[in-house]
Amino acid sequence: MADGLVRDPDRRGFINWFLGTAAGAFLLSVLYPVARYLVPPPAGESAAASVTLPFKPDEVKANSGQIFKFGNRPAILVRTPAGELRAFSAVCTHLNCTVQYRPDLSHIWCACHNGHFDLNGQNIAGPPPRPLESYVVNVRGNQVVVSKTA
Ligand code: FES
Repeated sequence: MADGLVRDPDRRGFINWFLGTAAGAFLLSVLYPVARYLVPPPAGESAAASVTLPFKPDEVKANSGQIFKFGNRPAILVRTPAGELRAFSAVCTHLNCTVQYRPDLSHIWCACHNGHFDLNGQNIAGPPPRPLESYVVNVRGNQVVVSKTA
């Protein structure tokens, strides 16, 4: 060729195919996460009505708490200083951080913004606007079963 360029239709086809595929892959990599974000996942596990905990009742000592999964969300089993078992959602009602039990305060606490909840799940200090969702606790033999209230 006079201009020194290779005019190979197979090569041009390959380059067009490659660029088209790369653009498609790029678009997919951008659109897929956006679509996943916009379309909520099916309710599935989060709608679980009850769960048998993976630990025994006597493994939770007085004045302590244990996080467990209720469906796909965290929950907390608390044994009060008086020895009573109670369970709550562990999702803080402020900005959804996971709460924890504070033995030094004998209540539930959220580390994110210093939110405090009493042993009934009531928000008592800090920014959380609502109580924690409370659950029903049943001890069946050596198992703890936590259920949503009907
Ligand atoms: S997320 Fe719990 S206090 Fe802010």
